[in-house]
Amino acid sequence: MDLEDYVHSLPKAELHVHIEGTLEPEMMFALARRNAVALPWASVEATRAAYAFTDLQSFLDLYYAGAAALVTAQDFSDLALAYFTRAHADGVVHAELFFDPQTHTARGIPLATVLDGLEQGCEQARVRFGITSRLIMCFLRHLSEAEGFATLAEAMPALTRIHGVGLDSSERDQPPAKFARLFARCRELGLHVVAHAGEEGPPAYIIEALDVLRVERIDHGVRAADDPALLARLAREQTPLTVCPLSNIKLCVFRTLAEHNFKQLMDAGLKVTINSDDPAYFGGYIAANYVETARALNLTRVDLKRIARNSLEASFVDDEAREPWCFLTCLAAFFSLGVIAGCFFSSLLLCLTLPMILLLVNTRTCACAPSIGSRAQDSRDLAQVRAGTL
Ligand code: ADE
Ligand code: ZN
Repeated sequence: MDLEDYVHSLPKAELHVHIEGTLEPEMMFALARRNAVALPWASVEATRAAYAFTDLQSFLDLYYAGAAALVTAQDFSDLALAYFTRAHADGVVHAELFFDPQTHTARGIPLATVLDGLEQGCEQARVRFGITSRLIMCFLRHLSEAEGFATLAEAMPALTRIHGVGLDSSERDQPPAKFARLFARCRELGLHVVAHAGEEGPPAYIIEALDVLRVERIDHGVRAADDPALLARLAREQTPLTVCPLSNIKLCVFRTLAEHNFKQLMDAGLKVTINSDDPAYFGGYIAANYVETARALNLTRVDLKRIARNSLEASFVDDEAREPWCFLTCLAAFFSLGVIAGCFFSSLLLCLTLPMILLLVNTRTCACAPSIGSRAQDSRDLAQVRAGTL
């Protein structure tokens, strides 16, 4: 089995993807036409040509401009379904989607419209692909804490539809502690909490996110490597890091993938995961992130299996849904050994356990690995997504 096939076969969770960052230029132009919104670029090609970023802020300026094409609940639903179609093709069984309500409410789009659309897309993905999902509402850290509280107030009637909150946007000079009271309130409300920290910002921001915001996962966190004590703490406490290697290259956090510190973090014992961040802008969805990182850093298949398993363990699903996926991850790795003994024992194991697996997967959760019967439909879906017609 080659590396791409192996990566696709691993059941995995995507824990760091901004749904607005999955807006491909083809869909951006189609939606802008549908909604009579003017974009700052003349064509799809000119848009892609503008994706030459020098840092996080240079990306965010374009990303917020592109998000202007999203107006109706149908737009958000189409966007989510297009993402899930690609994610399913990459072996994603569960995805936790970030969304930025303030980017939309600032343009007069009610938070309920965004949520209605995203939920519709999530539900269609569950029915069509068996992918489960969670919605994580992010506060923009370049805005004030008071504006964050106003967004939370608007979200209150819809709180059961949101599983957690996050913190994103410009990191420089925007310390996590600025949002201490807002995150305390979100925790009181029973929401999961995560935050971007240590993408461009210093290790001190990761420490603040842990100690002040009391986050359960750190998004990015690659700059933890600058502080050995923090590195030891993250390893000891097994706080998951949602690392996004291709994003880090596009935003010049590292010069090349070969220079990325992902393997250093993994070898230090941290619970690292691989994710796509804003794949429409950074040149690759989750499987491309796994494959290209593996090639650049010589990650083994055992490493990749560990990373996929980390993603399932670090997700906000309950154990009932998680267990069958973890078992399937082990099976995928076992089959990929390709040695005679492996094949023999794998076959034996499969004969003994297949009835049980099928029973478990069918009765306890619909979130199973990609089903063979849906492959033809999958390639039609993907072709439509790539052509910008879905
Ligand atoms: N919003 C979308 N992508 C982001 C990133 N990589 N960092 C911070 N905020 C973001
Ligand atoms: Zn991000």
